[in-house]
Amino acid sequence: MSAQSDRPFLQMVAERRATPSFDDTPVTDEDLQAILMAGLKAPSSYNLQPWRFLVVRSAEGRRRLRDACFNQRKVEEAPLILVACGDADGWRNGDLEEVLHMGREGGMPESFLEQVKASAPGYLREHPNITAWLNRQVMIAFTTIMWAAESLGYNTAPMEGFDAAKLRSALKLPLSYDPIALLALGHAKGSSRYDGGRFSSQRVVFEEEFPRPFRP
Ligand SMILES: Cc1cc2nc3c(=O)[nH]c(=O)nc-3n(C[C@H](O)[C@H](O)[C@H](O)COP(=O)(O)O)c2cc1C
Repeated sequence: MSAQSDRPFLQMVAERRATPSFDDTPVTDEDLQAILMAGLKAPSSYNLQPWRFLVVRSAEGRRRLRDACFNQRKVEEAPLILVACGDADGWRNGDLEEVLHMGREGGMPESFLEQVKASAPGYLREHPNITAWLNRQVMIAFTTIMWAAESLGYNTAPMEGFDAAKLRSALKLPLSYDPIALLALGHAKGSSRYDGGRFSSQRVVFEEEFPRPFRP
């Protein structure tokens, strides 16, 4: 675990950069477990947790992934790539029952359980954009994983530059799985990281109604 792990959260947020290049220092099994467990604690709609993650660590697996990622070098360089997917059918295949079971065990009020049971299937079956719904859920877990890794002193690189069909075939993804984003984890190589800058709050934050400026 790196000394960076005791940085205050907001300092860590300010210092994080998408890492262009990685050395081959591995991610330890203990850290990987902690990082993944943090992600699995993320919130989701109806607590349905429709995320699925694939850990790709082998040299051969990373080489195949690189090919599916428009030849991005960091995909093969990083010691570990996490592929975040959403399962559009998890709720139909036992996840909803498990969520209700866990909720009951955890003390969720019976009235709330009944409400979830009655409304979730219809909500999802008739959802106008299930791809957007999956992205919304999975990216929260993905982002939690990114911060967990950063908090343990790792560097990260989020990626959406992949060919979904190639990725599906390389990873043998089931049809209901939607590949959503990749996260490279490891340690930055060299000093090529740069700060691309961020919009000011005046440009992107409003108050009460658009376009009234937000005044801190
Ligand atoms: C969802 C997502 C997908 C991204 N995809 C790629 C990618 O495929 N390749 C890449 O080099 N960078 C990718 N990036 C990194 C962004 O270019 C980077 O985060 C952005 O330029 C801001 O830089 P910073 O993260 O260092 O502040 C992605 C970032 C996000 C959040």
